[in-house]
Amino acid sequence: MIIKTLETQNFRNLRLGKISFSDGVNILTGLNAQGKTNVIEALWLFSASKSFRTNNEKEFINHNSNYSELKVGFIKNSREQSAELRYYEKKRREIYLNDIKVKPSELIGNFSTVLFFPSHLNLIKEGPDMRRKFIDFAISQIKPQYFSLISDYNKVLFQRNNMLKSEDIDQLQTLEAWDIKLAKLGARIYILRKKYLKELEKHAKNVIYEISGGKETLSLEYLSVCGDEIDVWKTEEILLNKLFINRDRDLVLGYTDVGVHKDDLGIILNGKSAKAFASQGQQRSAVMSLKLGEAEILKTVTDEYPILLFDDVFSELDKNRKNYIIEKIRDKQVIITACENLTDFGESKLFEISDGYVKEAE
Ligand SMILES: Nc1ncnc2c1ncn2[C@@H]1O[C@H](COP(=O)(O)OP(=O)(O)OP(=O)(O)O)[C@@H](O)[C@H]1O
Ligand SMILES: [Mg+2]
Repeated sequence: MIIKTLETQNFRNLRLGKISFSDGVNILTGLNAQGKTNVIEALWLFSASKSFRTNNEKEFINHNSNYSELKVGFIKNSREQSAELRYYEKKRREIYLNDIKVKPSELIGNFSTVLFFPSHLNLIKEGPDMRRKFIDFAISQIKPQYFSLISDYNKVLFQRNNMLKSEDIDQLQTLEAWDIKLAKLGARIYILRKKYLKELEKHAKNVIYEISGGKETLSLEYLSVCGDEIDVWKTEEILLNKLFINRDRDLVLGYTDVGVHKDDLGIILNGKSAKAFASQGQQRSAVMSLKLGEAEILKTVTDEYPILLFDDVFSELDKNRKNYIIEKIRDKQVIITACENLTDFGESKLFEISDGYVKEAE
């Protein structure tokens, strides 16, 4: 897919205006705190409907306003399309796809991007939460039903946790029913994650091998409470059994301590845990390979390459690694931000941003 335009009104510090992107490499430069990440965030919101920076959507609205609007024009399935996001101070946000009001789940999968944001570097070193979110969002983009599956799982988990805290005997007797629901949904999530990670490993392996000039190998390990099971029914049984065995413990804790909401992704570099041993540059390359792998899968499944959004991630990579990535993405649509001019990209459309004003560079 290709994004043609982004229009912003009262979105954070961005001034009223329209940005027209080229189909290839777009580079947005500006000093700190001028609005570069705000542009990336605005675009990302169309594929995720949730920000990577905040859960509080009111923060998007410019401090001097009570309403904010974003609009994109894009080409998908060879068709010109549009989407709009409207944020209000006093009411719920509204989403429009081709002028028709839709739910977030209907927007997901229509406008696909792959984002690489500085804090994604923590994907390797931080706790499992971020890695699960990465996998779950990546699957949602190729399989929008997965987004509903995750949200159903979280609702059931929330209910079960409430039951665990309840002192009411009648309520506690309903635990079994919640266990069955949780195991059913959990098994489907597990199988989809397992399949996705196998595919991702294949692509990411190739990328990292090339980025590092053949020096590095990468493998991915799905670390799950379900072990290595591949059958959905058996997985359901395993989960149900674990919930049953752990029930007394969960009752003491007041929350569900076992399930796919605790699973993790192991990233192995040259046969060793990247979490424990990877250098800064190796971490950056490993995350880049996961992101480019995610993009390749989107291309295979949807037949459209997603828009690559790279926010300030080119520093710290050595020349060889950087050159390989540039070669790999040169013919894709990519939006890159940086504080200083990036000269290695060859033909590209340049923008400058200052105090929220975006203008095409001369
Ligand atoms: N709701 C808002 N209203 C007005 N200004 C805002 C709002 N939200 C954020 N800002 C401001 O927007 C400015 C630009 O933020 P942004 O994160 O896009 O900077 P940046 O160009 O990416 O900088 P850096 O190079 O440091 O990453 C910041 O000064 C921030 O305080
Ligand atoms: Mg920034």
